[in-house]
Amino acid sequence: MKVLVIGATGFIGFPVSQALARAGHIVYGLARTDEKARKLASEEIIPIIGNALDPTSWLSIVAQLDTVIEAVATPDLRGIGASLLAAVSEAAEKYRPAGAPKLNYIYTGGTWVHGENRTDFVTDTTPIISPADLVTWRPAHEQAVITNPILNGIVIRPALLYGRSASILSTLYRNAYNGKVSWYGTPGGRYAVVHADDLASLYVLVAEGATIAAGKIFDAANNTTESVDELLSKLVTISGAKGPYEYTSPSNLYEKAITTTSLIRPYLARALFGWEPRKAGLVDNLEVYYNAWKASEGL
Ligand SMILES: *[C@@H]1O[C@H](CO)[C@@H](O)[C@H](O)[C@H]1NC(C)=O
Ligand SMILES: *[C@@H]1O[C@H](CO)[C@@H](O)[C@H](O)[C@H]1NC(C)=O
Ligand SMILES: *[C@@H]1O[C@H](CO)[C@@H](O)[C@H](O)[C@H]1NC(C)=O
Repeated sequence: MKVLVIGATGFIGFPVSQALARAGHIVYGLARTDEKARKLASEEIIPIIGNALDPTSWLSIVAQLDTVIEAVATPDLRGIGASLLAAVSEAAEKYRPAGAPKLNYIYTGGTWVHGENRTDFVTDTTPIISPADLVTWRPAHEQAVITNPILNGIVIRPALLYGRSASILSTLYRNAYNGKVSWYGTPGGRYAVVHADDLASLYVLVAEGATIAAGKIFDAANNTTESVDELLSKLVTISGAKGPYEYTSPSNLYEKAITTTSLIRPYLARALFGWEPRKAGLVDNLEVYYNAWKASEGL
């Protein structure tokens, strides 16, 4: 398969690109700088120098591709998601010959669209009724992806990511490292989680099985949620921070989204592709994950 990863140097995009390369695919990765391009090249990912915000310089590549993966991490996810979808579908129409198979387009969403609910389970296909305030725009964009008439659109919604440089949890680890485990939320919350490497395996399965995955939305999460109280309590022990841990009130929509509890039991990726997360759970193996974050920060 020939795949372009937009966001190839990011927390999700990099392990996804590595996993695709390891699986034997021809992988192109968008990189903004020469330094990032070298990082990709050293992983046998073919760098395309360019900016996700300015697609005109690199979009003609879609003429020869099977799949585009959008895994961009920027503060303005809303604007960029819409502009990339429009740019890629226009380019597919313009550059691909008549009769070419549809270009697969995998959009990276997130499970915050399920919103807060501490009592009822949700699955990949549960209707979205009250997304977290930060992402109220996203269900409409998911629909725009999977109903795009030119592309074969697919959505993957990662749950809270753990492992490696830790993404969102890096802020929590940083607080612990600085001596106090404080985090947004209230007692009794639960996190749906997925390790970055398990997520990368899912992208490979979905990209390879894009014909089957067409028009579908996958929740990428372990099938058991984790207690946030347990996570914080264990982090106090592991980090040597001064206990007890404390919950703080969120002061913006992003921090509020972090407090979201959704009891997710995903089934679609397992049913269609036999996907099973392999990594030890976040709380069970927290010491290894905390140490990985520290090492990634040079601490
Ligand atoms: C949780 O979800 C159920 C089913 O959709 C709903 O009836 C209930 O009101 C929700 N609870 C909250 C607190 O939103
Ligand atoms: C949950 O995941 C574990 C480990 O991947 C698996 O053994 C188990 O069968 C899954 N349970 C359900 C109900 O899907
Ligand atoms: C899923 O979560 C459970 C409960 O925390 C944990 O024991 C298990 O190791 C996790 N499995 C995977 C594959 O992440």
